[in-house]
Amino acid sequence: MIGGSAIRSYNRVDTMLSEKMQEALNTQLNKEMYSAYLYMAMSAYSSYTGLKGFANWFMVQYQEEMTHAMKIYSYINDQGGQVKLAAIEQPATEFESPSDMFEKTLAHEKFITKSINELVDLAIAEKDHATNIFLQWYVTEQIEEEGNDNEIIARLKLVGEDGNGLLMVDKELAMRVFTPPAASEEG
Ligand code: FEO
Repeated sequence: MIGGSAIRSYNRVDTMLSEKMQEALNTQLNKEMYSAYLYMAMSAYSSYTGLKGFANWFMVQYQEEMTHAMKIYSYINDQGGQVKLAAIEQPATEFESPSDMFEKTLAHEKFITKSINELVDLAIAEKDHATNIFLQWYVTEQIEEEGNDNEIIARLKLVGEDGNGLLMVDKELAMRVFTPPAASEEG
C-alpha cells in the first residue's frame, strides 16, 4: 500500500521555482481569482439595477480575469511547481453607482499592477528569467486594463447625472466581446 508520503515523493517533480517564487505566484493566482469574483459581483449588481451593458462589460472582465488566473495555474504546473488554492475573499454586493464601480475597478487594477511589479522584482532578484519573461505579459496587460478603466471613467464624468448619456454608455459597453487569449495573442 502506498502511503501519503510515498505518493508525495513518487509525484514529486523537480521544480524550477524557488519556494518564495512559488508562494508569490500562488498568491497572485488568488488575487486574479478575486479580481474575477469582484467583476462578477459588479456584473450581478449592474444586472440588478437594469444596466445590461455594464453587466456585459463586467462579465467579459470576469472572463478575462479567469484567463489571467489560469495562465498562472498552468505556469506553476509547467514549471513542476505546486498550485495551492486559498480562500477567495468576498467582494462587495452593492455599489453606489456605475462611476463608483469603475473607480473601484481602477483602484483594484492599480493594486494588481503593483503586485505584478513586485513579482517581477522578485523574479529579477532571484535571477528567475523564465518567470520574469512569463510576467512580462501581465505587465503589458495591466497597461491596457488601467487604460480601459480610465477611458470609461472619463466618459462617465462627461455624462454626469444625465440619464440619457448613461444609457448611451450602457449601449457601448454592451458591445464588448470576450476574446479568448489563445485566439488573440500568444499564451
Ligand atoms: Fe488580472 Fe485585471 O488584472
